[in-house]
Amino acid sequence: VQQNSSRLTIAIQKSGRLSQASLALLEACGFRFSLHEAKLLAHCQNQPVDLLRVRDDDIPGLVMDGVVDLGLVGENVLEEVRLKRLATQLEAKFKLLRSLDYGQCRLAIALPKEVPYQGIQDLVGKRIATTYPYLLQNYLQRVGVAANTAVLTGSVEVAPRAGLADAICDLVSTGATLEANGLVEREVIFRSQAQLIQRTTPLSSAKQSIIDQLLPRIDGVQQARE
Ligand code: PRP
Ligand code: ZN
Ligand code: MG
Repeated sequence: VQQNSSRLTIAIQKSGRLSQASLALLEACGFRFSLHEAKLLAHCQNQPVDLLRVRDDDIPGLVMDGVVDLGLVGENVLEEVRLKRLATQLEAKFKLLRSLDYGQCRLAIALPKEVPYQGIQDLVGKRIATTYPYLLQNYLQRVGVAANTAVLTGSVEVAPRAGLADAICDLVSTGATLEANGLVEREVIFRSQAQLIQRTTPLSSAKQSIIDQLLPRIDGVQQARE
């Protein structure tokens, strides 16, 4: 991506729970894209707009560093990256443009169903596997529970069975993953949905006018499906 590109660049998840809905939202707003599976960048055919298709975890940082103009990302990833950046003195600013009506999920602590559970004090001294160490630590500090974490970038749900952890802290949407792995949700620590964010550094008036056009269209699309 050229920093001086005159095209508005929007980062979306390449493949995952938000990909289809994010693309569908932009298309419902009148942007036409033809995506090539292998390509990171997709040009919009009827507007000076580019889509950058990346891992969702990378989207907040790309916006906070001003590498892309807009990002469509889950609040869970956004807040995790924000907390991590604050802890490591990196720029963590972004402008929230809209909360969106898709990507609803929650970050929850779950334990094997055979483990008795009375309340959060039962987590003291336990090891909790997660992909969200900053959100988890933030929660544990807030409730005053001293527990250990194990950071895994995937397959968190198998950690208790594999003997890597006593509990997990992971995203729950339908609950099917927990169910399939004999886990029961015990504490919800964060609720999330998709958000549209913008970089805080100034935009050209051309880019700003595309955004000014996009926002009312998003509102219209979302109202129509309420
Ligand atoms: C999350 C989470 C579980 C699954 C839960 O993964 O890690 O695997 O979704 O959804 P469910 O309650 O509907 O079963 P996600 O697809 O967000 O991405 P990941 O590949 O980063 O784990
Ligand atoms: Zn991810
Ligand atoms: Mg998963």
